[in-house]
Amino acid sequence: MRLFMLAALTAAVAVVAAPAAAQQPIVIKFSHVVAANTPKGLAAEKFKDLAEKYTEGKVKVEVYPNSQLYKDKEELEALQLGAVQMLAPSNSKFGPIGVKEFEVFDLPYILPDLKALRKVTNGPLGARLLKLLDAKGMTGLAYWDNGFKQMSANKKLVAPEDYKGLKFRIQSSKVLDAQFRALGAIPQVMAFSEVYQALQTGVVDGQENTPSNIYTQKMHEVQKYITLTNHGYIGYVVVVNKKFWDGLPPDIRAQLDKAMKEATEFGNSQSAMENDDALEEIRKSGKAELIKLTPEQDAAMRKAIEPVYKDVASRVGKPLIDEFLKETRGATN
Ligand code: LMR
Repeated sequence: MRLFMLAALTAAVAVVAAPAAAQQPIVIKFSHVVAANTPKGLAAEKFKDLAEKYTEGKVKVEVYPNSQLYKDKEELEALQLGAVQMLAPSNSKFGPIGVKEFEVFDLPYILPDLKALRKVTNGPLGARLLKLLDAKGMTGLAYWDNGFKQMSANKKLVAPEDYKGLKFRIQSSKVLDAQFRALGAIPQVMAFSEVYQALQTGVVDGQENTPSNIYTQKMHEVQKYITLTNHGYIGYVVVVNKKFWDGLPPDIRAQLDKAMKEATEFGNSQSAMENDDALEEIRKSGKAELIKLTPEQDAAMRKAIEPVYKDVASRVGKPLIDEFLKETRGATN
């Protein structure tokens, strides 16, 4: 009798447990390299909240910030292998996996403002660029902002000549390489997670980044000067492993699409403010001196960097650069 009851109990437990096992949530591991309180970190958290809400818990999003899981290059490999499902690498980081077209976003002074950027990212050119990722086993879901880059070093950088001979950390983009070479500097590709220490120990003399990245990585504590050049842009492509994405039930995919759309609107509506706040915190810290260029100094920088457009035309593609310029300037080049 007791044996019978035990068997009945075991069977009952199995019946209760079976649907529970079937309802295991789908897990999306979202890896990124910056701090949680940055434009990307906050947008990722927003996506997590909305995705879990809209799927009523059928999807669980685990966000891993600060290169906790992978550094820049490794995270792209991990996505392709399916070890993580979602990332948001900067446009500058797709070259090493063979999608060099995203380096067009790295061209110096190519974006006068965020309005011009949106014309590209919300238009057919942006959609076409995302499509290029399919062949690499990933699906591009959205463009997320960070903001405009500033130059930092232990030396005052006001004229193009000031850059001569200095070593600068760059992201893995040939356009950024060409940019620093045009200034007579020595570019060095390095993972984001290694920049603070490289600046602190003098492995490199300077770097370029947005105020939010500089502040949250404490780079301003190991750099004497930050020149407000706004010479380039950092933005992200949210990518998901294609096989994983295509294999999702269509209703779940639609709910995640909605969550992504709203997280993108949220993130992109606040990115500029987050960078302004970070710049203000840097100013208040009194650690690095902020340098504003005069219109003449700004013009000299633009002139010195201009040859980059020719230098990288064959790599990025002249028609692509022209189309991008046409979109952003409203002019035919
Ligand atoms: C960098 O490597 O400097 C940035 O792309 C980091 C990031 O993801 O914003």
